[in-house]
Amino acid sequence: MHKSMSSNNILTTQITIDNNHNDHDESNYSIPKSSPSSSPPGSNIISSPSSNRYSNNFNNSNFSSSSSSSSSNSNNSNNNVHSPSYTPGSKEIFFRVKDRVKKAYFKGTTVEDLKLLFLQKFPEFPKDVDIQFLIIDKGTNKEQQVNDVCDIKEHQELLIRHEYNEDTKKRSQGYTGLDKEKIVLVMVGLPARGKTYVARKICRMLNWMLVPAKVFNVGEYRRLRIGAGQPHDFFDPHNPEGIKARLHMAVAALDDMISWLHNGGRVGIYDATNSTNERRQLVEKRCTREKMTVVYVESICNDASVIEHNIKETKLLSPDYQGVDPSKAVQDFRDRINHYLKVYETVEGEKTRYIKLYDVGKKIEVNNITGYIPSRVVFFLMNLHLHPRPIWLTRHGESEFNAQNRIGGDSDLTERGDNYAHQLAVWISEWCSKVRADGYDGEVVVWTSSLKRAIRTAQYISQPKVVMRALDEIDAGICDGMTYDEIQEKMPDERAARDSDKLQYRYPRGESYEDVIQRLEPLLLELERTKSPVLIVSHQATLRCLYSYLKGRVKEECPFINIPLHTLIQLSPKAYGCEETAFKLAN
Ligand code: F6P
Repeated sequence: MHKSMSSNNILTTQITIDNNHNDHDESNYSIPKSSPSSSPPGSNIISSPSSNRYSNNFNNSNFSSSSSSSSSNSNNSNNNVHSPSYTPGSKEIFFRVKDRVKKAYFKGTTVEDLKLLFLQKFPEFPKDVDIQFLIIDKGTNKEQQVNDVCDIKEHQELLIRHEYNEDTKKRSQGYTGLDKEKIVLVMVGLPARGKTYVARKICRMLNWMLVPAKVFNVGEYRRLRIGAGQPHDFFDPHNPEGIKARLHMAVAALDDMISWLHNGGRVGIYDATNSTNERRQLVEKRCTREKMTVVYVESICNDASVIEHNIKETKLLSPDYQGVDPSKAVQDFRDRINHYLKVYETVEGEKTRYIKLYDVGKKIEVNNITGYIPSRVVFFLMNLHLHPRPIWLTRHGESEFNAQNRIGGDSDLTERGDNYAHQLAVWISEWCSKVRADGYDGEVVVWTSSLKRAIRTAQYISQPKVVMRALDEIDAGICDGMTYDEIQEKMPDERAARDSDKLQYRYPRGESYEDVIQRLEPLLLELERTKSPVLIVSHQATLRCLYSYLKGRVKEECPFINIPLHTLIQLSPKAYGCEETAFKLAN
């Protein structure tokens, strides 16, 4: 049935259209739930224990307002505060944040109700900020804060003042291409083809390159709003209730993504199967209208072992199958895949921008890809693999400068530092013996910075070493060789500037953390490409940057990550992140 429906039909008959006023989001399809990322887990779950709960909820014409869980969060008995459309007794109002205006219908009784409605309209607005609504008197231009919602008149404009996209303004100076277009990467593929894995990896890489990127996973919307554990027939292309529910979730995620992109985001990653031309048309039309460039990333897996691995490693652990007998879960998931197979259409079209990834990196097909960011994504995907192997990060052993609290320089190891170098070599050699006994004959790859203290730390390791300048410590410029106390005393302004923004601060004639991140990018691709275990002997700042990529930490955290001396950090990349173990090898 849904194949014969035109996308227009779908939009007009199944989705409430919110005609925003004077707004970028003119054609926002309003779904009355906040994004999963912005809600406490489970807060948006529409609860019904029955296995076909979706049919209960989506048959219900009140879906859009009556099931809002936010009302339960706020002790608010009036469900209509979240109504996206007019209900009797509600007032039409406009929220304005800077130059963005959104229309809403308010029927609540308290300022709290108003806040909930506002956050529903602006889901990207920080939740921990005290929101104040201001009414501007058009005659006198005076502001009045709303303390009582009775002061709100029909068609009232409420101004909300907050620099909530400040982060965007402070955005890095890192090179991300001259073109500032907004990009939407639309994932495509059958279930268990590693789409989410690829989506998250791209996102982690872009964020690390200081490009604001975010994944919008439609499955998460489904789990939060309808509940995990839908049986396979929910995904049957001939199940009209399932189609409707899934379309609602897809549009909700799309709305949130577009809103996020309009508010400082640069690359939205739309993670869903998007397996039919019809669904892709819906997404593409909307994004094109919003002046965003769509690039499809299709993951095609013909290797049965990769699919099997995916089902067992990720799907069985998914909240969809919590508490379900593994063999039943596997069968249900296979049935789910078969439903999608019936309607699956690969991405095609001479003008379509797409990247097709076969068997996670074995082969890549690229069509009509231009621009810095899409090209970086292609390059990155070309280096992806699924081979399990550890990555070890270690700072050099204690140096003479460390012992004197001096930064930078090129001093040698102290006795303690030399002892660590011995312990490290022993540890690596024992590790190799252990895995060789298990039949592994691969080599450990050792990379060191070009500084004496790092080279010396690796000197007792028997494996060949590669010296890389990219791994050198952050260049402290004119502060090189000084202690932090000396910098404070002689250059208090520099110290203060660094304290106020450690990520972006650049030492005079030296580097910033952002500079270090940029120079590490080629090395990172090499790290992704390498299938052998890799030991990196480097320095505090450089390792903070690499660690923050591998662990997916937000960029602001990077300059403060604790990388202690004489400790080997083992990171084992898994499907959705890195497992970490730290070994303190010496004092
Ligand atoms: O103190 C050791 C050191 O590696 C210095 O050479 C370097 O300047 C510093 O750490 C980096 O840490 P932070 O950015 O916290 O000053």
